[in-house]
Amino acid sequence: MRKPLYISTSLLLAATCLFTISVRSAVLPRERISLDADWRFQKGDPAGSDGQLAYEKLKPWVMATGNEFVMNAGAAKPARPDGNPAANVSYAQRDFDDHGWRQLNLPHDWGIEGPFDQALPGETGKLPWSGVAWYRKHLNLPASDNGKQIYLDIDGAMAYATVWLNGKFVGGWPYGYASFELDLTPYVEFGADNVIAIRLDNPPESSRWYPGGGIYRNVWLVKTNAIHVAHWGTNVSTPEISATAATVDLKTTIENNSSSAASVTLHSEVYELTPDGKRAGQPVASFQTAATNIAPGGRTSLGAIARLTNPKFWSVQKPVLYAAVTTVTASGHPIDGFLVDEYQTVFGVRTIKFDIEKGFLLNGEPVKIQGVCDHHDLGALGSALNRRALERQLEILKEMGVNALRTSHNPPAPELLELADRMGFLVMDEAFDAWRRAKKRNDYHLLFDDWSEKDVRAMVRRDRNHPAVILWSIGNEIGEQRDAAGHQVATTLANIVRAEDATRPVTAGANVNESGYNGFQKTIDVFGYNYKPTEYGLFRSINANIPLFASETASTISSRGEYFFPVSEDKSRGRADFQVSSYDLYAPPWATPPDAEFHGQDEFPFTAGEFVWTGFDYLGEPTPYDRDSGVPLLFTDASTQARMNTELKDSGRLNVPSRSSYFGIVDLAGFKKDRFYIYQARWRPDLPMAHILPHWNWPERVGQITPVHVYTSGDEAELFLNGRSLGRKKRAQYEYRLRWDEVKYEPGELKVVAYKNGKHWAEDVMKTTGAATQLLMKADRDAIKADGQDLSFISVTVSDKDRLLVPRSKNRVSFEISGPGEIVAVDNGDATDLESFQSTERKAYNGLILVIVRAKAAGQITLRATAESLAGSQILIRAR
Ligand code: GAL
Repeated sequence: MRKPLYISTSLLLAATCLFTISVRSAVLPRERISLDADWRFQKGDPAGSDGQLAYEKLKPWVMATGNEFVMNAGAAKPARPDGNPAANVSYAQRDFDDHGWRQLNLPHDWGIEGPFDQALPGETGKLPWSGVAWYRKHLNLPASDNGKQIYLDIDGAMAYATVWLNGKFVGGWPYGYASFELDLTPYVEFGADNVIAIRLDNPPESSRWYPGGGIYRNVWLVKTNAIHVAHWGTNVSTPEISATAATVDLKTTIENNSSSAASVTLHSEVYELTPDGKRAGQPVASFQTAATNIAPGGRTSLGAIARLTNPKFWSVQKPVLYAAVTTVTASGHPIDGFLVDEYQTVFGVRTIKFDIEKGFLLNGEPVKIQGVCDHHDLGALGSALNRRALERQLEILKEMGVNALRTSHNPPAPELLELADRMGFLVMDEAFDAWRRAKKRNDYHLLFDDWSEKDVRAMVRRDRNHPAVILWSIGNEIGEQRDAAGHQVATTLANIVRAEDATRPVTAGANVNESGYNGFQKTIDVFGYNYKPTEYGLFRSINANIPLFASETASTISSRGEYFFPVSEDKSRGRADFQVSSYDLYAPPWATPPDAEFHGQDEFPFTAGEFVWTGFDYLGEPTPYDRDSGVPLLFTDASTQARMNTELKDSGRLNVPSRSSYFGIVDLAGFKKDRFYIYQARWRPDLPMAHILPHWNWPERVGQITPVHVYTSGDEAELFLNGRSLGRKKRAQYEYRLRWDEVKYEPGELKVVAYKNGKHWAEDVMKTTGAATQLLMKADRDAIKADGQDLSFISVTVSDKDRLLVPRSKNRVSFEISGPGEIVAVDNGDATDLESFQSTERKAYNGLILVIVRAKAAGQITLRATAESLAGSQILIRAR
């Protein structure tokens, strides 16, 4: 082994001061460097590589990646075959000239760049994410790194990633939602230009929703000493917690990659973290020091206990976090007494329990799960992870009263869990959408036998220290839930999870009634029903001891700002113009309006709560317009109707434009639909609020019945039309909205006055507006960081002279930016709009447009909006 180099830095001096035992300052104990900047990108394989690069060819080598996750008795740890696969493929070579390739930064999603293709199936988002692409990165590793371990940590790459360094095959990971680490050390040349080449292959028909394509999450270079904390090598639990003390149990796995035996000492301290994640002051507790010997090439786990007095509990309202900071020192040849690693593990102190009667308990208190399911795309940004975009989504959900997230149907970006920990969200962390039985021709069933153990263990090891995580889900609507052999698979997966983390229950989302009775329910710890609000009573009568929650609910569909008449109670109606009416009464056959689930939850209060499908609209799965069907559709415009009828007659099909879902409570651009307020009314009962729908601009409906619905956290309300009372109504049991279904439209003002317990509670007003005269702009944040990542989300409203949003306005708006900023994307939340997200123009959709701006450097950025016959607008964003 090469001798480590020792340097002295003030950082290390500060670190060494923490020890009670004295150590000499060594090399930097650990570095984790973002590798996101400056990649080269190219679609397709080089000529002549045909067949050599297919997963089936490379599989024996790829399979040797992640062997540390193969632990089940009898499971073979695949050995890496000799040889260097695809040794001559030009794109993998160090000296390949990639100057002509496109230069970009990660995270990157090539799918979102389009162009939209209306001929693609709806589930794809009509975006070209499938296919092969390569990423290359030049990496200079200084000679002073010689002797270190060099790892590549990929938080997520879609999909079938295979990785070369300097033309040598390193490894790979097929599941696009997995995070994984590759050891680059054997292939590195220190003091030289190294080239990482990553090939991705996204098979078509591999997903029921838009997965995106590319290295769509962050990538890191991790440098450690030969003796170091292993990848995801710590596991914190808090086995005993009281108001006055918590026992913190920290297990640490240490690896010795050196060629000699090492005697290591571990010492860890607990710090409270500030809300922005910094260590607050002095340590608040210490773990016992532990020591052990590790053979060359070996790994060992060490346990240590700390007692934390007067712990601050992590909760949804006050998500206090702690960090265990572990220092590893090694004595004995050749690095006697040196600090070899420092590793931080963030955790929280909280208890969780699913109770048969009381539902979910956090720190002993019942907390109803007010959750949403979401896919991972960030709307117009595609699946390319952006922390601020994710944080904005969570802020909007929090405003609605959401306290829980289901990462449907796959492990999320690590940043989602960091944000959930910090912002106070409970998380149901999910592994799969399919096991051995396919939902799509090329989905996970092709990987299940070879990879499911690795993928499940990787998910749990990565995520088990997050206090936010309260449930592990082994799958969603799995085909195998119906048969005994499938139950065996469920048991195996559940046991893998339990072996990795015994502190949280295992669950699954079951969409078949009989899964609650056929034995499937016994394979998991907590049972999740998808879309079965009338089944909860029967489930309980059969399963006295299995806690229950609603893993997926509602799937109500609507388009922001669209209302179709007559308003029908039939959930299969409310459809026109490839949109869905926003009365929140419409849903596909398996689904319900929100009210039906509320009823189930209230009638059977032992149900721990629900995860609504979905918080945000997402790309793909545009039910009910998810296929070019032969079903005649309705169009509010007579000429469109005639054109569509002809198209249908001539070709037997309609070309459906829909590229994103209608399920969201919030639209793809992040604008709230009416549904936002029915959930807010229920989930934030102490917030005085009332919300009227529909809008009140119906010149063509004067004198016609135009129902008015009101969502309020009050229990009673009176509606006024132009000052006349249309009656005061009280919510009956199992009623979640107040309805005035006989209102005859006349222009003017609708006003609702809501009451709670007989007292005035909240008001809302909806006015008929004048013609559109101007554009208004508002930024979610007008000061952003100039770090190349931070974003400002600017809403543009088409308004009348009184600054009221003009419903149904569709004006085309152009944007121009000056100063050190760029327009990253534009959107309007219209599921049928196939204009590029990267355009600098957009048609408003029912009065709104979103512009996403990023700073390239510090300074003042001005965004201008102009539209024909409207007064334009501009907004200033400061970047620092
Ligand atoms: C569920 C499924 C989701 C989504 C949803 C749409 O059955 O789990 O992934 O497809 O239906 O309603």
